[in-house]
Amino acid sequence: MEIYLDPGALTEQLAIDVRAGLTATPKTLPPKYFYDARGSELFDEITRLPEYYATRAERAILDAHAADIATTTGARTLVELGSGTSEKTRLLLQALRDAGTLERFLPFDVDPAVLKDASAAVSAEFPGVEVSPIVGDFEQHLGRLPRHPGRLLAFLGSTIGNLDPAQRARFLADVRATLADGDALLLGTDLVKSPQRLVAAYDDAAGVTAAFDKNVLTVVNRDLDADFDLDAFAHRAVWDAADEWIEMRLESLREQVVHVRALDLDVPFARGEQIRTEISAKFRRERVERELDAAGLRLRQWWTDPAGDFAVSLSVPA
Ligand code: AVJ
Repeated sequence: MEIYLDPGALTEQLAIDVRAGLTATPKTLPPKYFYDARGSELFDEITRLPEYYATRAERAILDAHAADIATTTGARTLVELGSGTSEKTRLLLQALRDAGTLERFLPFDVDPAVLKDASAAVSAEFPGVEVSPIVGDFEQHLGRLPRHPGRLLAFLGSTIGNLDPAQRARFLADVRATLADGDALLLGTDLVKSPQRLVAAYDDAAGVTAAFDKNVLTVVNRDLDADFDLDAFAHRAVWDAADEWIEMRLESLREQVVHVRALDLDVPFARGEQIRTEISAKFRRERVERELDAAGLRLRQWWTDPAGDFAVSLSVPA
């Protein structure tokens, strides 16, 4: 396993981000800290909720078009950014193996435990394919990716939607900088749809997303010795029509002061005050094309599911 990011660096980053976010107005916490073991489990549960269409829609697209993606790219190395459990990637791996071009798989994630399990599973299912997991942060370490010829970088699940426009521009520029001729980017993007469906997808009836949202407080409690009372906050999902993104927020149900001992920080909350914990941008084709273009990438193919809920696009260096 290649380590670009050690656990110490991650906790240090958490401390910096939590101090900055909880002393800002309005308060924020970055979404990357949702995904400890419990958070990853809850996210997995989210992907199976009736309201959360995105994972099923993306899987349907890959099911229908993986063979096309494999022949169009002829990729020899598949790099999966933010790979998680690599479940949908299997469709790509199978298609590339069937096309006869697949040599290696590089899953790239911040979580070594998840990478270890995913790598073992892929190794077992794809004998003869070199599997080299990389522990890293896709906002910091793309420049260090090994430059094998014929790489397909996959960034699925609309994780790109968690980045704000400036972060997206930087991320896509980093992707462009690592791509050589013959490489390609496969990008999953959730699409704009009715606010009712979007809000339901981020505030499900069973309360799984609420638990996922509050889990970031558990992470801060554990890793920075804070005393957030999870019952004193409520989950909210809000559609921002101007920016075309969903915001997840945690609303303080009373006036309170939270102590973050590792930071020697007291955080006062008014009743009704909110912490923004995630943006999840929703896209239109024009925006995806424009942002790729601005980074020096040219959109080559665009696939959606039959309902038009989600898109997977393939782009190459311009
Ligand atoms: C994993 C970032 C794609 O934004 O839809 C799911 C995370 N948050 N429900 C998303 C998430 C709330 C998810 N991504």
